[in-house]
Amino acid sequence: MDKLIINGGKKLKGEVSVSGSKNAALPIFVATILAGGKFEISNVPFLRDINTTIKVLESLGATIEGNGNIVKIDTTNVNNVEATYDLVKTMRASVLVLGPLLARHGRARVSLPGGCAIGARPIDQHLKGLKALGAEIRLEHGYVEATAKQLKGARINFDVPTVGGTEHLMMTAALAKGVTLLENAAREPEIVDLANMLNLMGAKIEGAGTDNIRIEGVEKLSAIDYRVMPDRIEAGTFMIAAAITGGDIKISNMQLEHLDALVFKMQDAGVEIINKDGFVRVKGPKKLKSINIKTRPYPGFPTDMQAQFMALMCLADGASVVAENIFENRFMHVSELLRFGADIMIDGRSATVKGVKKLSGAPVMATDLRASASLILAGLAAEGTTEITRIYHLDRGYESIEKKLAALGADIVRVKE
Ligand code: EPZ
Repeated sequence: MDKLIINGGKKLKGEVSVSGSKNAALPIFVATILAGGKFEISNVPFLRDINTTIKVLESLGATIEGNGNIVKIDTTNVNNVEATYDLVKTMRASVLVLGPLLARHGRARVSLPGGCAIGARPIDQHLKGLKALGAEIRLEHGYVEATAKQLKGARINFDVPTVGGTEHLMMTAALAKGVTLLENAAREPEIVDLANMLNLMGAKIEGAGTDNIRIEGVEKLSAIDYRVMPDRIEAGTFMIAAAITGGDIKISNMQLEHLDALVFKMQDAGVEIINKDGFVRVKGPKKLKSINIKTRPYPGFPTDMQAQFMALMCLADGASVVAENIFENRFMHVSELLRFGADIMIDGRSATVKGVKKLSGAPVMATDLRASASLILAGLAAEGTTEITRIYHLDRGYESIEKKLAALGADIVRVKE
């Protein structure tokens, strides 16, 4: 098991490039099931979750070359329709193969994903939508068994704007007979990226990125090449890294318009953010102002940036309230941040952060992907040495983050534990 060792207090300087988006690449990989053929997906980040998705697709019969940057996927022989528990339990997003297998083969047997550290993460909306499209669904022994002679278009209204549910049903409806309307759909940019790929494959999808998506089913889809969008959460994490260290960095290969809610909050906190000449320049202030945030579905403040923003507020002037409205257990970074000397009080789904003059380095433990990022950010700003263990959580969603931060002047190394 690896750990990270950080000697804090260095102001980050220089330029960093953002990798491809994990949360766009995962559904894009799954969508290759819808058409038997050879795909070339580019700008794919080297991540554990990408490797897991590759294993899932190979278990279904796909042949895959590469695991990052360029990945060639041949789904001609995807004939197995079962995704097993040992694969699905390591990465919940694998459950998205259910609908595409149903659309292509008329049946599928996929393990229920189970919960994860940050919450129960049910898939009731996914299953409700598949039933509306005409699937027979049975839950047995922890598996979803689904059959459908012919999927038919339907009007589906989500109880909650679910990202995975919207992606799952948009993909599946692409091959259903007739028109499907997804109402109260999620609006995340990763959904737009997936819709762009599906339309290049021959799908007829309108409205992705709004809360009403119209999908006119087609007979067949074709294999294509596609480039994954940049990872907006990795980009946001580097923006906070500059802000929390009082640094001055340039970030390339990012789309700032995907992070409006974060940008407004960081600017309110006194961070200078300039978007020009293809770079985003981020300059941390001498003193950070305390700002309240509430996580919301896109375009609201992203839950995937909540832990990172909380780390920033630990050093702000005054008190800020962080409300987590998406997941029921996404404050596990708090107990670890307290070890740095932060002053945070949790009350249900909100936490009050009282800014402190300084953080001091400490041994801490990663608990989930974005919590790990918040511990790195605190370690970069803290005085003294920080050791972070269980960083396999980090490797799920950040490509070589310690190398990228070291190139910005951080004193950070990965060592074998
Ligand atoms: C996606 O998860 C992301 N993962 C998450 O990123 C992200 O935090 C989340 O969207 C919200 O933006 C990927 O894209 C692979 P949801 P997803 O369905 O699709 C409830 C990261 O750090 N819900 O939008 O699972 C659910 O419980 C990860 O990269 C239902 O009630 O999220 C939650 O409260 C973490 N029933 C809310 O909706 C359902 O059927 C949002 O979940 C589905 C969801």
